[in-house]
Amino acid sequence: MSFPSPIRTSDFEALRDSCGRVINNLRISVTDRCNFRCRYCMPENGMVWMKKSDLLTYEEIDRLARLFADLGVCKIRLTGGEPLMRKDLHRLVKRLAAIPGIGDLALTTNGYFLEEQANDLIRAGLGRVNVSLDSLDASTFNGLTRRDYYAKVWKGLEIVQGLGVGPIKINVVLIRGVNDDEIGEFGRLARARQYIVRFIEFMPIGLDDDWSSEKVVPAKEVVERLEKEIGTRLQPIERWGRQPADRYVFDDGIGEIGFISSVSEPFCERCNRVRITSDGKLRTCLFSLEETDLKGPLREGSDDEQLKHAILEAVWNKERGHLINRPDFVRPGRTMSQIGG
Ligand code: 5AD
Ligand code: SF4
Repeated sequence: MSFPSPIRTSDFEALRDSCGRVINNLRISVTDRCNFRCRYCMPENGMVWMKKSDLLTYEEIDRLARLFADLGVCKIRLTGGEPLMRKDLHRLVKRLAAIPGIGDLALTTNGYFLEEQANDLIRAGLGRVNVSLDSLDASTFNGLTRRDYYAKVWKGLEIVQGLGVGPIKINVVLIRGVNDDEIGEFGRLARARQYIVRFIEFMPIGLDDDWSSEKVVPAKEVVERLEKEIGTRLQPIERWGRQPADRYVFDDGIGEIGFISSVSEPFCERCNRVRITSDGKLRTCLFSLEETDLKGPLREGSDDEQLKHAILEAVWNKERGHLINRPDFVRPGRTMSQIGG
């Protein structure tokens, strides 16, 4: 099959890559900083943060987001590090919410600052929130994040729930021997609170060299364990939908569970997303070894057509898939906090 050349920047229908995938989902990292130190993400000490002057400004992010929207992107997710570490994030949310064509504006956060900021963010136009919460046991949570913030995250969750935006999603990175004994507890949470619980397979990314395939709990196993613990079967909602997350609901209709099975069932062929790092690099895969600098051209005065051209070309060359399961897999040189998850 052949696809149109990416070189024309006008009259195209959508942002496409050379494998025929349509890219409509943009993840924007607004900072690499974080107030947590999750063991699977970054070391306790010694993280070197980007210089403030290297971060895209809100004006620059807005300009890029508008170009992506022109090219067919309709979903934006703000990530970090911890995105709420960036001052007045609601100002950026307000700008992005006003972009024509952006129908879905979401945030992935560790939840710590939601207590203070959720109200402003929602008023500014934020549509959905994903909170990373890897354990429902305070001491396991504190051990994993190396921070004593469990109660504060829960306060944030309660506030968001009270504001009525949703559905709230809970991201759980499962690590065998660390938190997989809580699978049933998370299932009960999904049923009791109507949070969508999404189990994310532990991925070989980050500076802690602690990953091994034995620590990955495959989605298939989680489904079986959930069904056993809850005593109800799980039905797939969107087995091969466009979204990477496979979605399931319990047979009685109560409780949704999602999976990001990057390791055991890579969804590369259905991947619809690209990322911009906080220092303005376009990454076409979480595991990319190459990036396209957009900040340089932005600051050197490129016009919209030139920037769109750079975006189209980078996206056209999006990697076919990652190589996690192959011996020649090479970890990217950035941590998840520097990429944006
Ligand atoms: N494997 C899987 N998920 C990870 N995240 C961070 N590091 C990893 C990893 N090595 C998750 C965070 C957050 C999302 C942005 O990425 O927990 O939910
Ligand atoms: Fe921070 Fe997220 Fe990394 Fe945890 S996983 S240290 S919350 S950026």
